[in-house]
Amino acid sequence: MEETPHRRRAHTRTRDLQRYAGLFAARTGVMRSSAMRDLMAITARPEVISLAGGLPDTSTFPAGTFAAQMTRIAQESTAEALQYGPTEGFAETVDCIVEVMGAEGMLPDPDDVIVTTGGQQAIDLICKTLVDPGDVVVCEAPTYPGAVPVFCSYQAETIQIDCDADGMRIDDLEAVLEDLDREGRRPKFVYSVPSFQNPAGVTMSLERRRRLVELARRRELLLVEDNPYGLLRFGGEPLPPLYQLDGGDFVIYVGTFSKILSPGIRLGWAVAPPPVMEKIVLGKQASDLCTSTLTQHFVREYFSEGRWREYIADLVEIYRDRRDTMLESLSEHFPAQATWTEPEGGLFIWATLPEYIDTGDLLAKALREDVAFVPGQAAYVDESRGRSSMRLNFSGVDGDEIREGVRRIGKAIAEQVELYGALTGEQEAVPAPKETSPAAGESGAGDVLPFRKAGEGSG
Ligand SMILES: Cc1ncc(COP(=O)(O)O)c(C=O)c1O
Repeated sequence: MEETPHRRRAHTRTRDLQRYAGLFAARTGVMRSSAMRDLMAITARPEVISLAGGLPDTSTFPAGTFAAQMTRIAQESTAEALQYGPTEGFAETVDCIVEVMGAEGMLPDPDDVIVTTGGQQAIDLICKTLVDPGDVVVCEAPTYPGAVPVFCSYQAETIQIDCDADGMRIDDLEAVLEDLDREGRRPKFVYSVPSFQNPAGVTMSLERRRRLVELARRRELLLVEDNPYGLLRFGGEPLPPLYQLDGGDFVIYVGTFSKILSPGIRLGWAVAPPPVMEKIVLGKQASDLCTSTLTQHFVREYFSEGRWREYIADLVEIYRDRRDTMLESLSEHFPAQATWTEPEGGLFIWATLPEYIDTGDLLAKALREDVAFVPGQAAYVDESRGRSSMRLNFSGVDGDEIREGVRRIGKAIAEQVELYGALTGEQEAVPAPKETSPAAGESGAGDVLPFRKAGEGSG
């Protein structure tokens, strides 16, 4: 048989695996792939409508602005923009960060800020600083799918607390903390995305924010607040971030320019109390020395123009329309037994299907129809959970594609429902498209996001 380059590579891989297996660190045994990264490779195909990524719409960024700023950087700061920079980031970039946080009512001390390679690196550095193998980390259920591989690679024991329409259930959190107390254990931190959560699209109520911050103070518990979406609000009243309510004593804050400017520039940040920040800086030195100085210059130029809030306002208009389109399409094409959230901001809707539908299997079917979403399982450390749910992104594609994408997923669901009906003889399983979508707060199937109706307790 002819040795093609492909066959040679496959052969080498098997041999390499045997050669290296004994060298791998224990942590690689529990490392998990980010479901989104895997899907990115498939959804890069132009014919695929991707409702999977968390992609902001970068096509709306004015090309002329980008060109003018990069030209100015080249003319005025080539040497510095092409050089290494301080691990903490440039003071001018930190000033921009302080301005962004100020727009949500926060007043961080610039000395408490580090510029990171995206919010993702901030999460990684926080874990690197705080988590030893076997330590307890608490987060929401479902949680940001990109945080799951981080918690796994630091070998944390991750406990997930259910969310409902008002975000993480604080009464459940208290019960878990009491159980841990009895075992003499203390979580290293509680990780939360309180506003327009990825993946569920829900927002923690003011009452729960206050309770969470009060609980953290009482128990001297660290909270990690990850807030990429707070400024992307389409409706309702702005709510104070945990960082603002707490003043920064027990909250480590994670932010990013990815969703308000560009993920391609890979700029995020963390704000932490000085002793924690000291260790985070050491961790970053070991990871990558410093964040891209070139893109820090870009942010500095961009903010000096003073249009950054207007650009966010433009994005909010676009995303509100797209969210509405997705909600309408879900009503039209998803079966009556499905429920979904109605986010007031951010990029995602979380839909829950009848329990007998596995969204991992459904994804395989959907990909054959050239449409993608993130299966709910990716948002759980325990992969047996979230199996009948899915995360749908409405920011990355236009209205026509949203309609067509949801129609194709609806078709794949209808086939599964029909098959189930045929196998079990359950007639009520046949899909009946709804006229209106259920409000957030209605009961969903399965163990995911067990929404309660208004008045059933605020958690
Ligand atoms: C909740 C949350 N945290 C962190 C990130 C990481 O973003 P980046 O590394 O691009 O800043 C994302 C991206 O989708 C996110 O949704």
